[in-house]
Amino acid sequence: MKTLKVALLGGVAFLPASAMAAEMNLICSADVVICEKLVSAFEESHADIDVNMVRLSSGEAYAKIRAEARNPQTDLWWGGTGDPHLQAGQDGLTAEYKSPMLEQLQPWAQGQAETSEYRTVGVYSGALGWGYNTDILKEKGIEPPMCWADLLNPALKGEIQIADPNSSGTAYTALATLVQLMGEDEAFDFLKKMHANVSQYTKSGSAPVKAAARGETGLGIVFQHDAVSQAVAGFPIGVVAPCEGTGYEIGSMSLVEGGQNPDEAKVFYDWVLTPEVQGLMPEAGSFQIPSNASATAPKEAPDLSTIKLIDYDFGEYGSAERRKALLSRWDDEIGSLPLQ
Ligand code: G6P
Repeated sequence: MKTLKVALLGGVAFLPASAMAAEMNLICSADVVICEKLVSAFEESHADIDVNMVRLSSGEAYAKIRAEARNPQTDLWWGGTGDPHLQAGQDGLTAEYKSPMLEQLQPWAQGQAETSEYRTVGVYSGALGWGYNTDILKEKGIEPPMCWADLLNPALKGEIQIADPNSSGTAYTALATLVQLMGEDEAFDFLKKMHANVSQYTKSGSAPVKAAARGETGLGIVFQHDAVSQAVAGFPIGVVAPCEGTGYEIGSMSLVEGGQNPDEAKVFYDWVLTPEVQGLMPEAGSFQIPSNASATAPKEAPDLSTIKLIDYDFGEYGSAERRKALLSRWDDEIGSLPLQ
């Protein structure tokens, strides 16, 4: 570690070099606990680089990077669902980068890089579903919903939370999943009917299952690994992989085009793709499947090979045109409806 000599009352003190350190600005779109853990682990191993981190949901992160396009303040965007990362790449907001780590990654993570012409890369993966509060459903005599269709059960009135797909990548994944499962008109029809059971559209994707864990709602539509986190933390949460099939995310990472600290950002980029660093995620209660082929998937992670997954079309649903059109239809037809 570099040090700075300072004369101090007849002695010599050594201050950490952080007073002089280089910096980088990071947007982190996964859970705040893993965001903070990554930053402190990075700063411990790279004493010459300070990281300024802000946690934003995936859609909010995209909007911030877009708003900063003429004068980028952000250097690197780690985590969050892949669709808005792909859209940012298509918009030219993120930079092409082929990390030396790329060849160590799982085919789905490399595929994400190829789809974006190397403007983003896969960092983790996980399937969508929901978590329900076993105590609340039992008390109310409600059969736990196992299929998307069960979410329309009138007994669930006021018991469902899901995020707003404009701010949340989780909720956008749910919207795009239903469109791919049912067809677009049918999916909006389903969402209109489900709205009768929804008490709140939250900003962050995992908030609904955190609310279910605290007993504030019966059920949250989230990534299954976010429901597992609450169950592992000891809350009465049952985790469901919907029977009709479900979508999944390729959580991604992108370097911002024209960022002010590209060298420091690349150091973080390569470091965060190592198996050792990906292995830190379960310690922070994050149970996604890591993208480095040598990293061990957490034992708590939902096993994707046992879940009925749709063939999610990341190219199409991450395209600027499709994402914009679906979000604007959601605003018109769902977001504008009064909450019961
Ligand atoms: C949680 C999940 C991540 C996901 C993220 C998306 O943190 O653990 O796997 O990428 O949500 O967040 P958002 O708020 O955009 O839905």
